[in-house]
Amino acid sequence: MQSKGKVIVTGGAGYIGSHTVVDLQTAGYSVVILDDLSNSDIQVLEGIKGITGIRPEFYQIDICNTDGLAEVLMDHSDAIGVIHFAAYKAVGESVEMPLRYYTNNVGGLISLMEVMRAIEMDNLIFSSSCTVYGQPEMLPVTEDAPVQSAQSPYGNTKQICEEIIQDVITAGYFKGAISLRYFNPVGADLSALIGELPLGVPNNLMPFITQTAAGLRDEIKVFGGDYNTPDGTAIRDYIHVSDLAEAHRVALERLIHKRQSSAFEYYNIGTGKGTSVLEVIHAVERVSGQKLNYRIVDRRSGDVEQVWADTTKANRVLGWMAKRSLDEMAESAWHWEKKRVESRG
Ligand code: NAD
Ligand code: WQD
Repeated sequence: MQSKGKVIVTGGAGYIGSHTVVDLQTAGYSVVILDDLSNSDIQVLEGIKGITGIRPEFYQIDICNTDGLAEVLMDHSDAIGVIHFAAYKAVGESVEMPLRYYTNNVGGLISLMEVMRAIEMDNLIFSSSCTVYGQPEMLPVTEDAPVQSAQSPYGNTKQICEEIIQDVITAGYFKGAISLRYFNPVGADLSALIGELPLGVPNNLMPFITQTAAGLRDEIKVFGGDYNTPDGTAIRDYIHVSDLAEAHRVALERLIHKRQSSAFEYYNIGTGKGTSVLEVIHAVERVSGQKLNYRIVDRRSGDVEQVWADTTKANRVLGWMAKRSLDEMAESAWHWEKKRVESRG
């Protein structure tokens, strides 16, 4: 099959990136991954090949290395766009090591945009986060909600990066960029050949639950049981990573076909449904057929009480909608966990 075009994916060996590469390749695009493997494993490429039959072209490179990046991208100056995932993402670590986060997340974007500008490569999709909204006054949260003062250096890097892209677009360096504000990505490809690879003790809820179901952890600590929510636990908008992956392709196609109404657009990417911590635990209980040990403890500092997306804009303008249910998210996450445990023996 003839390629629909070449897409550069920074951070394409990571969790969301690898699922997006699968989606792009399945849709007929060819992909070049740029990743320094700082939070991923080269084996991910085999997983992608196992699903799509194609091993994407791969460069192990730190995108902050502007000269090296220019060399690579010059060889691929025919690319139709860039999807930029490469960044560090641990909120707690960013509080302890702010410079590391600003250098990599903000420095990486600047380096990428400098090279894209120099070689006249257009069309940028940026990985942003619902963290920019903090605790919104109105729910579900729309893209018009004010960006709130960031709770962490990590969250601040997302806000700063969006501002930088806006300024660069205003200056006329690029014609098109889209920022996707993800809510809470969970789950894995149905094949269980790729998935999330948390280092050490997971900070995020879903991997912590599936590790508990797999017997790797004794109990799940539920952070806060006294929130003003129906069951007292915090509410988020969990989205299947494969639905999220598809949103990137759809957004990129909007840029390629010059359908934007403004040069820089923002979209919420979630399901539009709020789910409590206990509901996520119960979903994993259903799909794994086990009762899980959990205990309600104090709230985690910096957590918002509840947030879920108004996805009307993405639904109407991008023509994209999340399709997979909470049980599909839990089941795919559980399959991936079991497979990892089995492979470790
Ligand atoms: P991930 O850590 O699995 O993937 C990021 C990838 O980028 C990794 O493979 C890592 O090795 C690579 N990388 C990091 N710095 C790099 C650099 N300087 N040069 C080259 N490669 C580099 O994370 P993810 O969950 O797939 O997240 C992808 C993007 O989405 C990130 O920008 C993250 O901030 C954003 N995001 C993630 C979530 C989430 O909950 N996972 C939510 C909102 C936004
Ligand atoms: C979800 C809910 C916890 C673990 C983070 C980042 C955000 C974005 C997504 C990147 C919360 C509760 C968790 C546990 C628990 N990442 N929880 N016990 O905090 O919504 O968002 O990841 O951009 O920026 O902040 O996700 O999965 O950590 O937590 O009770 O062991 O589960 O308190 O209510 P969060 P999470």
